[in-house]
Amino acid sequence: MMTIRLCAIGDRLGLFTDLAENGPATSQVMADRTGLNERYLREWIYGMSLAGYLSFDKQSREVSMPEAHIPALVDVGGPLYQGGLFKMFTGFMQPYEDLIESFEKGGGIDYEAYPDDFWKGLEHNSCVRYKNLLVSQWLPEMPDVQAKLENGGTFADFGCGAGRSSIELAKAYPKAKFYGFDLFPKNIENARKTAEEEGVSDRVEFQVHDIAKGVPGQFDVVATFDLIHDMADPKGGLKALRQACKDDGIYVLMDVDCTDDPADNEGPLAVFKLGASLHFCMTSSLGQGGMGLGTVGFPESKVKEFSSEAGFSSVRRLPIEHPLNALYEIRP
Ligand SMILES: C[S@@+](CC[C@H](N)C(=O)[O-])C[C@H]1O[C@@H](n2cnc3c(N)ncnc32)[C@H](O)[C@@H]1O
Repeated sequence: MMTIRLCAIGDRLGLFTDLAENGPATSQVMADRTGLNERYLREWIYGMSLAGYLSFDKQSREVSMPEAHIPALVDVGGPLYQGGLFKMFTGFMQPYEDLIESFEKGGGIDYEAYPDDFWKGLEHNSCVRYKNLLVSQWLPEMPDVQAKLENGGTFADFGCGAGRSSIELAKAYPKAKFYGFDLFPKNIENARKTAEEEGVSDRVEFQVHDIAKGVPGQFDVVATFDLIHDMADPKGGLKALRQACKDDGIYVLMDVDCTDDPADNEGPLAVFKLGASLHFCMTSSLGQGGMGLGTVGFPESKVKEFSSEAGFSSVRRLPIEHPLNALYEIRP
């Protein structure tokens, strides 16, 4: 817990990047380079070195970044980058009093209560999947989706967050037109900015839209990435997605891989999923008066049940290996 917190500080203040880019430094040199307080840096350096994340030379009093740790600590969006998780942990633990009150009185937490660090962390964490897996490994499992995008089809990403999935796809499929919808305005603001920076804003359009209020059109491919288990009304959401999907269209659903009985989830990631559920997924859904499915509340059996109720006729689980997510190709 303390290591994650110290990592979050290093990530937020650019200390890992400073060491990777500018080389070994004493706390005073780091203070001169970063403009930060030397005494705080000295304590942080000892802590990170004792945790084994940085190397400390007792003679020179210099700290350095081991080459092998750069992909995990510095390379934003790289396949091993962990900075998104550091920000997410620190961010979703902030509305702690609200969480305790929810235990006591029920209800939940509003999106606005989560700090920017949480949303940035979510974006950077998701971005790792979309930059490294979505286009190169997941899309090839769905040749019909690939064909629609290659032929200039329309793709709508609901609950798009900061838009990284659509942006990565837009880079790979220049003929297709992409739309991202999210109910949280701050996410849409960030998504538009990133699309601009990545040079795809002419083909990716982001709009604030709550899918509970109906669908903004019909599309060749509709997609949700980690949306359904977070929704206030997942069944209503799936019905709306059916309406948004053309009759010969395809719905790409990515959600959390979990077991039918929450008690059967195993391993350290199971604890992470339940913790994330309490700190955000279940709790923000309940905060909207919703169902509160939770992070481990949408296993394959429920995907099939809810999709069928919503009017989809087939669900195919794709053979991808991922520690957190399952991927489905669903057809009307
Ligand atoms: C866990 S985040 C996933 C974001 C993004 N898809 C990603 O993979 O990074 C879930 C997102 O769904 C959005 N959301 C929740 N309910 C929604 C609704 N009814 N309509 C539109 N967006 C919704 C939230 O604002 C949040 O950005």
